[in-house]
Amino acid sequence: MANKTMSPEADAALVYSQPARRFHWYTATLVLILIPLGFLMTYEGDAFKIPEAVNNFMQSTHKLLGFVLLWLVVARLIYRFRHGAPPSEPTLTSLEKGASHATHWTLYALLLAMPISGWIGVSLYGARELFGLVSLPPLSGVDQPLSDKVFVWHTRGAILILLLVAAHIGASLFHHFLRKDGVLRRMLPNLSR
Ligand code: HEM
Ligand code: HEM
Repeated sequence: MANKTMSPEADAALVYSQPARRFHWYTATLVLILIPLGFLMTYEGDAFKIPEAVNNFMQSTHKLLGFVLLWLVVARLIYRFRHGAPPSEPTLTSLEKGASHATHWTLYALLLAMPISGWIGVSLYGARELFGLVSLPPLSGVDQPLSDKVFVWHTRGAILILLLVAAHIGASLFHHFLRKDGVLRRMLPNLSR
């Protein structure tokens, strides 16, 4: 008798591989810490005052996590170019496929641009130290006016990545809870669809 359900092999071909999902969730966790941490450590309003020692700790944590993220994203992109991604969820329209690919590749570009601009910015500022213990390698000499300009772009990038991540999470939840298709399950940590 013909089996009308999809074979487990065909089903598995539509989900992201285990390493791709691991890369995704490690990246996502770091980004979801780095964005609020970045805004918090640069907050200058009157609503609350962060003690200087705590602020220094947050700055070092931000630099360290951002630096780790850079190498994680490099490894993730090498894996992505070598192994590709599963074909898009079959129920998506070509417009939806185009929009999701554009969002994903813009996110990848920002995942490189954010840590690189941060690293260049702290090199130009002369603030490469982490927790007063070690220093990130310099990418340039010190030039604080140029550093200020680089951080203007770092902030613009942060706002853009925040908006795209919000749209990306919103789209995942829309697909899962309203469309009830398999988009979110393709990327969930366990393989079951
Ligand atoms: C994906 C990675 C990163 C994200 C999402 C991110 C995000 C942010 C955000 C949201 C801010 C606050 C912007 C503002 O309020 O003006 C910020 C500021 C900052 N970031 Fe990052 N960042 C990342 C990587 C890095 C790295 C790798 C470094 C350094 C090695 C770094 C160094 C800084 C510094 C020093 C500031 C403070 C700039 C200032 O005082 O104007 N960031 N970042
Ligand atoms: C709760 C948070 C998140 C959820 C629920 C989520 C969900 C998903 C899902 C379901 C996919 C697969 C989409 C598809 O099948 O076409 C995906 C892919 C992707 N996500 Fe997320 N995501 C989250 C956070 C993030 C964050 C913070 C980033 C990075 C800034 C990110 C970057 C990406 C990228 C680049 C892809 C494309 C993977 C590829 O095809 O190479 N995601 N995400």
